[in-house]
Amino acid sequence: MKELTAHIDGEFPAGQRLVLADGEVSATQWPMLAGRNIPALRVGDVLTRGGEPFARVESASWWTGNPSRRVWVLEALARLEPGEVALAHERRGRTLAWITLSDKGAAGLRADASGPLIEEMVRAVLPLGLARGFVLPDDERALRALIADLALVQGYDLVLTTGGTGVAPRDVTPEATLAVIEKRLPGFERAMTAASLTKTPFGAVSRAVAGTLGQSLVLNLPGSPKAVRECLEPLLPALAHTLDKLQGDPAECGGLA
Ligand code: MTE
Repeated sequence: MKELTAHIDGEFPAGQRLVLADGEVSATQWPMLAGRNIPALRVGDVLTRGGEPFARVESASWWTGNPSRRVWVLEALARLEPGEVALAHERRGRTLAWITLSDKGAAGLRADASGPLIEEMVRAVLPLGLARGFVLPDDERALRALIADLALVQGYDLVLTTGGTGVAPRDVTPEATLAVIEKRLPGFERAMTAASLTKTPFGAVSRAVAGTLGQSLVLNLPGSPKAVRECLEPLLPALAHTLDKLQGDPAECGGLA
């Protein structure tokens, strides 16, 4: 638990959104905290003061014009008073981002049941500190950018996509994913195909990819809620262990209890 010192420029109620900037920032219309040498904060991290929750990290970005400096949007969890504070930060639960790839969904023409189902299924096996959903059209470049941002800048543990894994002209989810992942996880892919083929011969049509980027597990699922359920189910028992290993847990692997 690394400490950071920050300066609060005003008095803020719980629930207030404010910006934490790395370094001194003179002009901003945002209510803010300015700190120095802030450790790498990930979305979902909780800042604490004297052991009490103080604020939660909602998103991260680069400071415009100075990419060596970072900016985080926080939600105040308690009433904040102006002045200097010494804060610690800790992770509370895992973080999940799901992305639904659907031209119709992104245009507001189709309600999305698959993204919320992913969240429900993951929540049943992992304590989730924060979960967020995104709906994108089937656009390869936009998906590449979003996966990279969620994994490398926001620091989500899990980035799960649904849709666009087939062979229709606009199905580009596997291409976007392959362009950004660092280590591929063929075992996850095979487990999905094997489980799918026990349900439908169309399981062979999905080209879903799995892999890692930074400290995130990135996983494609097909688009229908039925396919999400059938493909994600066999992977759920492996999620926690995969994240532990990906994030540097040095413990010996003893197999599943
Ligand atoms: N896998 C499972 N387990 N169950 C399914 O119903 N549907 C298939 C396949 N994988 C399906 C499945 C179908 S019909 C298609 S076209 C492909 O996933 C690709 O789906 P997507 O383009 O929506 O990702």
